Amino acid sequence: MTSTLIIGATGLLGSEMAKASARNGDRLHVLVRPATAGDEERLHSLKELGAKIHVGDLDDYDSLVRAASAVDRVISSVHVHSASEMTLVRALSDAGVSRYVPSAGFGLDFAAAAPGSIPPLDLKRGVFDAIRQADLPYTVIYTNGFFSTWVATLGDLMRFGSSPLPPEEVTLYGDGNVPATFVSEKDIAAVTLRALNDPNAIRSEIRIARNKITQNEMIDLWRGVSGRSPRIVPQSAAELEAMIASAPWLGLLRAFWIRGETALETATPEAGVLYPELAFETIESAFVAMADAAGR
Ligand SMILES: NC(=O)c1ccc[n+]([C@@H]2O[C@H](COP(=O)([O-])OP(=O)(O)OC[C@H]3O[C@@H](n4cnc5c(N)ncnc54)[C@H](OP(=O)(O)O)[C@@H]3O)[C@@H](O)[C@H]2O)c1
Repeated sequence: MTSTLIIGATGLLGSEMAKASARNGDRLHVLVRPATAGDEERLHSLKELGAKIHVGDLDDYDSLVRAASAVDRVISSVHVHSASEMTLVRALSDAGVSRYVPSAGFGLDFAAAAPGSIPPLDLKRGVFDAIRQADLPYTVIYTNGFFSTWVATLGDLMRFGSSPLPPEEVTLYGDGNVPATFVSEKDIAAVTLRALNDPNAIRSEIRIARNKITQNEMIDLWRGVSGRSPRIVPQSAAELEAMIASAPWLGLLRAFWIRGETALETATPEAGVLYPELAFETIESAFVAMADAAGR
């Protein structure tokens, strides 16, 4: 039986990775930090999936080598802090895993996004360079926008976490007519497991570019499904630039809604083309589920 270690399995994406890995019939291993290891409530669903729990930390090289030595392949779905992720790269080289899906990929395709415009993406790019230099058997999955972050906010990243439902007021970036692409966390996990089972995906990059839609179209779709009409606050590209000057990570909004970088065609193979048997959740079905949950 193939064994898969997930680092970040209590998180948004990692919990979907854990479920997909268990569905795939893998022997599931997870690495959790000491504080989490003592939290039965947070570990409950992972234990139900039969996960073997390793206690460790991305900053603790020995714990990473111990956990990685017990498995065939590793998925990391933590937020990338370069020093910690570099420790993981070193540990995986020393442990000798057969496949590694780094968290560096879970965002924009490096081939589409201009270097130097989004600090978190530049960090991820640096980690990917280290992975290649270490000659690890990686598979990088570029996701573009997650449903929970972008669709549930009607494309307004600034409102992330404010409510499980799309917001009553939404900022419209630029003219609202630039397309972007989105995928559910469950589908990201399905693509990842499919790629892990694909020997041709070793040392390769795969992009998910599904559900292409503009911000105007997304807001209209929500109106149609829910009968709600969010208030629109327009923000020009120049006003967004002024915000990015003081909060550079907001370069993500420019990449999505001004430059259209998540919808650019690149030479990176696209997941739905590569694996046509996979069916992807649509934005409309996600909106229907949200509206139902809100008692539409
Ligand atoms: N493109 C998009 O729209 C988008 C949206 C969201 C996220 N992302 C990307 O997706 C990836 C996962 O993000 P997420 O939102 O799923 O993350 P998350 O929900 O914040 O979860 C992070 C996980 O990492 C674990 N963790 C944090 N620091 C750790 C450490 N030092 N050692 C070991 N484990 C540690 C946490 O464990 P504890 O339980 O101990 O806290 C948690 O399980 C990231 O690369 C992120 O940039 C992309």
